Amino acid sequence: MFLTFYNNKMKYNFDEIIDRKNTDAVKVERCKALFGTENVLPLWVADMDFKTPDFILESIKKRLEHPVLGYSMPPRNMLPLFIQWVNAHHQWELKREWVGFVPGIVPALSFAVQSLTSVGDEIIVQPPVYYPFFNVVKNNYRTLINNTLIDDGEKFVMDFDDLESKITPHTKLFILCNPHNPGGRVWTKVELEKLAEICEKHQVTVISDEIHADMVLPGNTKHTPFASISEWTADNTVTFMAPSKVFNMPGLISSSYIVKNELLRNKFVEFLEASEMNAGNIFAYQATVACYENGESWRLQMLDYVKNNVDFITEYLKNNIPQIKPMIPEASFLLWLDCKGLGMETDELFNFFVHKAGLGLNKGTIFGPGGENHLRMNVACSRKILEQAMAQLKNAIDELK
Ligand SMILES: Cc1ncc(COP(=O)(O)O)c(C=O)c1O
Repeated sequence: MFLTFYNNKMKYNFDEIIDRKNTDAVKVERCKALFGTENVLPLWVADMDFKTPDFILESIKKRLEHPVLGYSMPPRNMLPLFIQWVNAHHQWELKREWVGFVPGIVPALSFAVQSLTSVGDEIIVQPPVYYPFFNVVKNNYRTLINNTLIDDGEKFVMDFDDLESKITPHTKLFILCNPHNPGGRVWTKVELEKLAEICEKHQVTVISDEIHADMVLPGNTKHTPFASISEWTADNTVTFMAPSKVFNMPGLISSSYIVKNELLRNKFVEFLEASEMNAGNIFAYQATVACYENGESWRLQMLDYVKNNVDFITEYLKNNIPQIKPMIPEASFLLWLDCKGLGMETDELFNFFVHKAGLGLNKGTIFGPGGENHLRMNVACSRKILEQAMAQLKNAIDELK
């Protein structure tokens, strides 16, 4: 199955520092609005500061050699390549008719909420969690129910008793973040089986956001698609996956839905079509093909680099700033920092990072309950930047004494 995946022998340089100023990058341009100053190292929004891989840039350049950028179809091999990728990486065999294009996972979450539930229905999420989960529920006038995760001192675990106690006859949907952002958990098969058992018992449909699926860090359990857990989950799950996060091309906007159950799929797809939101752009299509054809070597090298960055920060904090405890992520490039040991309230902590340490991180409370006294740090950047960040933080902490 790994036919073309390993052909690329190129050694990539993740140490290179790329200046993203004057490129309209959200990570840079929104600093003033978010932190009140541009004078921070931006370690927040979840894209990488690494170069988007050469095979993606080349595929776009190649397309630009043709002078007409007219309406375009997805290349014929795009979805078959995605299906082959999912099969090879996640041992989940998809049929062509289960799969289709969606223009971004956050919009797709909103489409799912709108097409599968009604105003007032209850939807469960597990905070602290990627904050658009709250928006897609509340902004569509559904009722948000929090099944807050438990921090067991090392990692997040699900609170199944709380979950069961919160399900009512009005509960129609559960939105799962698998793997989890911001905690970096790769939910185990056992955890997902337990979750599936509860959802099946109460007939709650599951939306599984699996955008981080291809970013399990070396040394961790592999990703399990929720829909692959059982026959019931296969029939009652809407899954979203994308190459955008793992191959650092979120600005292109390319993702896929996977829905086995025809009834469920029709409801979702009819909504997508009625909203005229079922198509992407030429470059997203080209890049998606390039990722699934040529991406494996870059992906593995990137994950090694990110893992080393995670280890660097973890060691640094342990040895120099033990008041801050990182939750070690099993997937992705986001570090959830428990800063209770600094004895500051959430806003004070955020401002301390911005104005004393010169660091722009996400405030924990945007991820909902459980985010108090926490910050989320993006470590997908050159090691040099992280060394500088840690030195700035250490100086600021030393000055507190
Ligand atoms: C869990 C999760 N879902 C979705 C997204 C964004 O998806 P998209 O850019 O396709 O809307 C992110 C980005 O950080 C994420 O962490």
